[in-house]
Amino acid sequence: MNADDVVQGCLEHTLFSWSARGKLKPLAIERAQGVYIYGPDGQRWLDFNSQLMSVNIGHSHPRVVQAIKDAADGLLYAYPGAATQARADLGRRLAKMCPGDLNTFFFTLGGAEANENAIKLVRQSSGRFKILSRYRSYHGATNATMQLTGDPRRWANEPGAPGFIRVLDPRPIGFSFGDTDEEITTNNLRYLEEIIVAEGSHTIAAMFIETVTGTNGILPPPRGYLAGLRALLDKYGILLVCDEVMAGFGRTGKLFAFEHGDIVPDVLTMAKGLTSSYVPLGCVAVSDKIAHHFDDNVFYGGLTYNAHSFCMNVAMACLDVMEDEGLVENSARMGLVMREEMDRLKAAHPSVKEGRNIGLFGILDLQRDRQGTDMAPFNGSHPVMGELNRFLLDNGLFTFIHWGSVMCNPPLCITEEQLREGFSIIDRALHLADAAMDDA
Ligand SMILES: Cc1ncc(COP(=O)(O)O)c(C=O)c1O
Repeated sequence: MNADDVVQGCLEHTLFSWSARGKLKPLAIERAQGVYIYGPDGQRWLDFNSQLMSVNIGHSHPRVVQAIKDAADGLLYAYPGAATQARADLGRRLAKMCPGDLNTFFFTLGGAEANENAIKLVRQSSGRFKILSRYRSYHGATNATMQLTGDPRRWANEPGAPGFIRVLDPRPIGFSFGDTDEEITTNNLRYLEEIIVAEGSHTIAAMFIETVTGTNGILPPPRGYLAGLRALLDKYGILLVCDEVMAGFGRTGKLFAFEHGDIVPDVLTMAKGLTSSYVPLGCVAVSDKIAHHFDDNVFYGGLTYNAHSFCMNVAMACLDVMEDEGLVENSARMGLVMREEMDRLKAAHPSVKEGRNIGLFGILDLQRDRQGTDMAPFNGSHPVMGELNRFLLDNGLFTFIHWGSVMCNPPLCITEEQLREGFSIIDRALHLADAAMDDA
């Protein structure tokens, strides 16, 4: 099939996430290798978003492809109550990889299910009901995780279940908690404590955060925030859940993003990078204290595909590649190159408001005037963002445009040359944004 046939076939009989089908022109993708994806008509694009910030080891890694073939000869599926070697192996391996006492794991099929089960685990183990989360967040599209989610994708899914309290992030959209990281942290946590007290701290089971906010702007926490938050929640016996579905497995230049803040959460949720999205798998890690609660108490949660043998074997192969090829370290190294390239683009283009990155987790925010007005408003767009995206695709680069920002999240195996090649395509595209500025 050529690209048009593929697109037509998909639009005829399938619904796409977060889209009105009649307005959609999906990109036809036929195959992918390393940092590149290929279209049915012979096009090649540098994948500057690792698809959904998830193909961390790069596409179709030959070692993992072989491991998938081998895994297909072994046990494909056993009921969730069964003990399997894949389950024993991956549990032991993750216990070694995760810091602190995150030693016990519940396996799911993806990130939303990991957060769903994290909600169950913190409620059942604490006996408390309410959950805190932040507005600039995405935690999944199931019913409960939509209520955890702060971003506008929640609106159409309301009203949801009660008990979810959303709070402002350290970096809200419309104002600032302060001028320095220290001020922002202090003021945001003071505001948070006020909410905790007003809600009744004894009713709050946990707070969920994306350690580094992903889709909603690649926002690393201000200095001191993670340690301050950890201490504040401890004061009230509230559990800290770090959602690292996107930020985990090397994306930020460390295996887990919370390591940048020298803390360990009580619960960690993961997915995407665990299998580099080759197969679906998610996971919740819990502290020894939470795990021991379920020594005597039934965990009321379950999935047909809990601890899926085939997927877990694939995860082992992906972790082998990540370790053997030093991809976490490469993410940290290439993060410095990304920083350099972003600084260069900001100096060269008046439309670049700010470039942010931590490791290979990056974003360019564009502005429509030199006073810093965002190129697109909150939850909105600007015609030039579509033109920019078209230019990028026509010139061999695939990425996500989010409102007025350009995502920069390539696979962690990217070389310096490939990374600079990506930014040189963005450099050329930014002339469109410069010309579209109100004060151009
Ligand atoms: C931080 C975060 N949490 C949870 C999810 C949901 O994961 P999934 O789409 O695998 O259900 C995502 C997906 O993008 C995410 O970025």
